[in-house]
Amino acid sequence: MSEIHNVQGIKPKTSLNGSIVIPGDKSISHRSVMLSSLAEHSVQVNNFLFSEDCLSTIACMRELGAVIEFTGEQQVTVKGCGFYGLKEPSDVLNAGNSGTTLRLLSGILAAQPFFSVITGDSSLRRRPMGRVVEPLSRMGCKIIGRENSRYAPLAILPAGTIQGITYSLPVASAQIKSAILLASLFANNSTTITEPYLSRDHTERMLQLFGVPVERKDLTVTISPVSSLKAPAVIDVPGDISSAAFWLVAASIVPGSELVLRNVGLNPSRSGILDVLRLMGADIRLVNERLEEAEPVADIVVCSADLQGVCLEAEIIPRLIDEIPVLAVAALFANGRTVIRGAEELRVKETDRIRAIVDEFGKMGAIIQETADGLIIEGPQKLHSATCLTYGDHRMAMSLAVAGTAAEGVEILNPACASVSYPNFFEVLEQL
Ligand code: S3P
Repeated sequence: MSEIHNVQGIKPKTSLNGSIVIPGDKSISHRSVMLSSLAEHSVQVNNFLFSEDCLSTIACMRELGAVIEFTGEQQVTVKGCGFYGLKEPSDVLNAGNSGTTLRLLSGILAAQPFFSVITGDSSLRRRPMGRVVEPLSRMGCKIIGRENSRYAPLAILPAGTIQGITYSLPVASAQIKSAILLASLFANNSTTITEPYLSRDHTERMLQLFGVPVERKDLTVTISPVSSLKAPAVIDVPGDISSAAFWLVAASIVPGSELVLRNVGLNPSRSGILDVLRLMGADIRLVNERLEEAEPVADIVVCSADLQGVCLEAEIIPRLIDEIPVLAVAALFANGRTVIRGAEELRVKETDRIRAIVDEFGKMGAIIQETADGLIIEGPQKLHSATCLTYGDHRMAMSLAVAGTAAEGVEILNPACASVSYPNFFEVLEQL
């Protein structure tokens, strides 16, 4: 890519109006391809998210023997290998920038009777993997990684018999939970996982859609092993609320705005951003609420409003973990103090997002207090234009764009990382 494409100039806008079809959910797109690859017959996945991360999952599952074809504009058709049919990959699997690909797939690979190695880009190779290696090892899986199994690449030896476990997650993480759940499908007895707070439950919902009995009681989920998956013929992926979040905040803080966001997934384990923005005084209406297979969906109408600061504690964090960079933008435009606590997981995302928020919005004139587990923001603050870094983090790129749109513009270096989750984000912003 030429230098010129490595800078994205964002101009301020006086209002944002229009209707946006929100691209498919990233978490659900990954899971749809992984589970369909273990099915006996073809599954058509509609509204699949063709982003860098999900393409990494497709590439890995192809290496493992699944036949995955692009059969429509936002459609893939997966011809799975059957529950015991994955084959040994002939090369190292590459998850790119995608933690979901690496961690969830580790759970599946750790239960297979063959050798595999999985790695990722430089950002992913710095992210903690001991959190999946530890519970998988307890199940009897043979998995090791770099630096005493703390980091990828992970090398996974052929599995013998693996046992179900009873496990308390040290952090509320859907990726750790899902890695264990996926391995436990192949175990010889049931597995019970308890989380400190509810993290996204797409894996549980999709496993049920594939005929796996899943029991949930409060924060505990129990799953029994199976010998096959009963895949649905079609999966419709709802729009990603984490992508909708950029427009929810942008329309709220740019005066005179009204946006209609179409087809947004409203799974309660993901919809913390709606609760918090409403608490801040946002003008958000749900229309056309419906249930699509396992997931609730609606269209959202959002109009600009005067926002107030808000205090967020640990319990809600997993329900909006990916939205905190853009929530920081909302807080900069809100009246009063916003305090975010219990969000230390942000330090091990695609980059240390607490540090990146403080440093990069700081270049635009924002004064944000960094704490070990969150942020304190006094609003409203006047931001000016600046040249800011993304650290290759898609959500930083898009949050900076929202701030620049509502303030005096911004220049974003290395904006292309937005395509990790939202390939045409900047085009949509341009058109509004
Ligand atoms: C995801 C879980 C979350 C989230 C990530 C996607 C998933 O990560 O931040 O973007 O698809 O399961 P953690 O499980 O590490 O919190």
